[in-house]
Amino acid sequence: MEHGRFYYYVSLILFISGLFFPDMVGSIGINYGQIANNLPTPDNVIPLVKSIGATKVKLYDADPRVLKAFANTGVEFIVGLGNEYLSKMRDPDKAQVWVKANVQAYLPATKITCITIGNEILSFNDSSLTDNLLPAMQGIHTALVNLGLDKQVTVTTAHSLSVLEVSYPPSAGSFRKDLVGCITPILNFHAKTNSPFLINAYPFFAFKSNPKQVSLDFVLFQPNQGVVDPKSNFHYDNMLFAQIDAVYSALASLGYSKLPVHISETGWPSKGDEDEVGATLENAKKYNGNLLKTICQRKGTPMRPNTDLNIYVFALFNENMKPGPTSERNYGLFKPDGSPAYSLGINGTGLISTNSTAAATITTPAPQSQQSSSTGYLSISVAVKDIQSNLLSICSCLYLLEDFVVACINYCFHCCCGAAFPLD
Ligand SMILES: *[C@@H]1O[C@H](CO)[C@@H](O)[C@H](O)[C@H]1NC(C)=O
Ligand SMILES: *[C@@H]1O[C@H](CO)[C@@H](O)[C@H](O)[C@H]1NC(C)=O
Ligand SMILES: *[C@@H]1O[C@H](CO)[C@@H](O)[C@H](O)[C@H]1NC(C)=O
Repeated sequence: MEHGRFYYYVSLILFISGLFFPDMVGSIGINYGQIANNLPTPDNVIPLVKSIGATKVKLYDADPRVLKAFANTGVEFIVGLGNEYLSKMRDPDKAQVWVKANVQAYLPATKITCITIGNEILSFNDSSLTDNLLPAMQGIHTALVNLGLDKQVTVTTAHSLSVLEVSYPPSAGSFRKDLVGCITPILNFHAKTNSPFLINAYPFFAFKSNPKQVSLDFVLFQPNQGVVDPKSNFHYDNMLFAQIDAVYSALASLGYSKLPVHISETGWPSKGDEDEVGATLENAKKYNGNLLKTICQRKGTPMRPNTDLNIYVFALFNENMKPGPTSERNYGLFKPDGSPAYSLGINGTGLISTNSTAAATITTPAPQSQQSSSTGYLSISVAVKDIQSNLLSICSCLYLLEDFVVACINYCFHCCCGAAFPLD
C-alpha cells in the first residue's frame, strides 16, 4: 500500500479510537504491601492485579522478586525506600548504589516511574527522620540525574493526611504550623523536579473517630445530600474529594497551587475490632467498589474537575503480620490465597465473551483461585443485578477494548510495513 494513504488510515484509526476510549477509562493503582507470611508468589499476583484493572502498583520497598516478575507486563511501578534508609541516602555514593541496584537494574523491562522516600515520615514527630527526608530525596534525585534517569523516574514521599491542621471545610485546608518550615522546602523540591505530592487519605479514620457526626453514606460514596463548602460554594458528595481539596488548599496557602496531588493510599478495612466502628465487609465493598467506579469515570474533585484522580487503593492483600488493631490486617481486596476478600463487581478476567480474534488477543489469565469456578466471561446476570458492578465491568471492558485497538494497529503496521514502526 502506498505509504501516504496507509498513514492516513492509521491516523484515522488512532483518531477514532481516541474519540471512544481514553476519556472513559481512568487508571487504577494498587498498593502491594507484603507484611505477611502467606502471600502468593509475585508471578501469581500478576493476574490478580490485572483482574481489578490496575495498571499501576505501589511497593513499600523494591522487592526484586516482584520487580522481576512484572517485567514486560506494562504495569507501572512506584518503588519505596524504607524509613530506615533515609540517613544513608544523604551520601551521594550510597544513593547512587541504591538507585543502580533497585531501579536501574530493572529498567526498562519493569516500568518503574517513581520512588517514594519513606512513608508518613513527618507524622512520627521524630526530628532525626524529618531532618533526613529532604536530603535523602535530593540524594536519590541527584543519583537519577547522574544516571540519566531523572526524566523517567520521579522522587517523592508519601504523607499522612495528619500533616494537615485543618481539613474541613476544604477551602480552609492548611498544614500543621509546626511542619510548615520543613514542608515548604520539600514542596519547592517537587516544583523544581516535577514530582507529585503524595497523600495517604482515609475517610475511614474520620468516620471511626466520629461515627455519630459523620454520615456513613458521605464517606462511602453512596447517594447523600452532601455538604457545601461555605467559602468556595463547592458541593461535596463524598469525603475523599473533600480531603483531597483540603490538600490543594493547604498547598495553595504556601504558594504551590500547581503541584499535582496523588492519593498514594486510600481504602477501607473489611474487618476490625469491636471499637472500630464501620470496619465491615459491606462497607469495604461499598467504599472500594464505589472508589474504583469513580476512578474509572475520570471524575475530578470540585477544585480540580479536569484533573484525573491518581489513586492507589490500599491494599492488594490482607496482611497477617501487621501490628495494631484488627483493621490493619484486613484492608486487602484479596485474601492471601488469591480469592477476593469480597466481590467488587468484577467477575473473572476474560471479560469479553466472544470467540473472535478480540477474545484471542486479550489473554489475561484468570486468578488461580477462580480457575475452578470462573467461566472467564463477564457474568451478565451478576452485572445486571448490581448496578455498581455493571458500571465497573463496563469500565474494565473498555480498558481491554482499548488494548485490543492498540493490538490491531500494531498488527496493521506489522503486515504492511514489516516489523518496522514507520518513523522515517
Ligand atoms: C505529632 O505532633 C502533633 C502536633 O503537635 C500531634 O498532634 C501528634 O499527635 C503527634 N504525633 C505523634 C505520633 O506523636
Ligand atoms: C462470578 O460469577 C459466578 C456466577 O455468577 C459466581 O458463582 C462467582 O462467585 C463470581 N465470582 C466472583 C469472584 O465474584
Ligand atoms: C468457541 O469456539 C469453539 C470452537 O469453535 C467452541 O467449541 C466453543 O463452544 C466456543 N465458545 C463460545 C463461548 O462460544
